[in-house]
Amino acid sequence: MPSVLIKTYGCQMNERDTEQVLSMFLAGGYDITKNEDDADVILINTCSVREKAELKALGKMGLLCSRPNAKPWVVYGFMGCMSQSRSNTLFRDIARLDIVTGTHQYHNVYKLCNRLLRNRLAQNITEPIKRGAHICAVAHEDGFQNAIKDHLPPSGNCTAFVSIMQGCDMKCSYCIVPSTRGEECSRPMNDILIEARELVERGVKEITLLGQIVNRYGREEPIINGRGAFVRLLEALHEIDGLERIRFTSPHPIGFRQDLVNAYTYLPKLCSHIHFPMQSGSDRILKLMLRPYKNEKYLKLCEDMREARPDLAITTDIIVGFPGETHEDYLQTKAAVERIQFDNAFIFQYSPRKDTPAAVMENQICLRVKEERNHDLLECVNRIATARNQALVGTTQTILVEGPSKNNPNRLQGRTSQNKPVIIEGGSAQVGTIVPVTITECTGFTLYANVQQ
Ligand code: 5AD
Ligand code: SF4
Repeated sequence: MPSVLIKTYGCQMNERDTEQVLSMFLAGGYDITKNEDDADVILINTCSVREKAELKALGKMGLLCSRPNAKPWVVYGFMGCMSQSRSNTLFRDIARLDIVTGTHQYHNVYKLCNRLLRNRLAQNITEPIKRGAHICAVAHEDGFQNAIKDHLPPSGNCTAFVSIMQGCDMKCSYCIVPSTRGEECSRPMNDILIEARELVERGVKEITLLGQIVNRYGREEPIINGRGAFVRLLEALHEIDGLERIRFTSPHPIGFRQDLVNAYTYLPKLCSHIHFPMQSGSDRILKLMLRPYKNEKYLKLCEDMREARPDLAITTDIIVGFPGETHEDYLQTKAAVERIQFDNAFIFQYSPRKDTPAAVMENQICLRVKEERNHDLLECVNRIATARNQALVGTTQTILVEGPSKNNPNRLQGRTSQNKPVIIEGGSAQVGTIVPVTITECTGFTLYANVQQ
């Protein structure tokens, strides 16, 4: 049986897309492998959000394609965001590359790879191939997100991602996503509910809804009894027996209405965690970022949600060193971090992306300043995050037990409703169950706990 390996960079959306593609290979009789030397098809699902992510994927593919002892017939391919933005120029970078498929072509990946592999196997290739097949599929296809919906993830996991929309219609001036993922497009609610019910029947307890701006889900639909389509979707999911936890990522202040704040008061399955990108605490920078709201709106939403759900954990994304960012702008971002007391924040140094307005703005910030701000803000974020985790020691939390701990297979690992990883002694709880635990210790970002009897 041939085998396939997919390496995934980037966001959860990419992880979800990888799962979908893998399930098509499984259905076609392939084995899934983690071993590069075993694989007959090697794919990298790429991310374009920052240059570093692209360079990593390019570097990795370069190494894979030049392995001296590799099987000669291996099919090499790039999928996802970088494929979409760089398209067939990738063959100039890596001549041995065979296939480049874009973000609207995931449903065709299996077919293209399998056909090429079968051809090569039939030809009995023994010599290394110098130049790959150079097949490029990056066109937009309508209905592509439903073309793969029947292929549910192969894993026996108790958690799952469900994509509820594709693309993004905002045009943040730093962001390549609107050009790699295309226009915003929501899936029909019924399809999402059917998928969620099937997942629950297979033992899934926790679902994370995915979209570039989830709260804009179905925004062309009417508001009924004060509730927009996204909140109505949450309510409908909440009704599913056996589904215990609902998460979503990521929301945006635009289109974030009171109905979603209220949802935290009456939907107990909605987890006490929100990843809510702030990007900057300066109104001047938000304006340059083409994010059409004031920071106070963002801060107020955080505070309103914490009022609705006092134990809500809030995590965020912040960009430092956006073009024109002054020390004063940076201090406003830092003040916002202090005010909200985030449970964690991902800090990114601004990275100019192809064909985005910010890439050609004047006053680009030099690397040294970006690094200084990154370092300074990280210290601040870590101090706050550690204090918030320390405050959990001695409390009771409920965790969904997900499986063995990565660092110590004798222990089990789960996450709290606040999405904090917790390690517990093995043997005392079953994978896939939600159990009450007492937090006993905290080191950095990991909590340790005993299961309550
Ligand atoms: N440079 C740096 N960070 C970026 N992000 C998006 N585009 C860029 C860029 N050009 C960050 C944002 C977003 C996260 C996924 O990546 O903070 O929320
Ligand atoms: Fe990019 Fe802005 Fe859309 Fe997020 S909201 S994907 S940052 S354009």
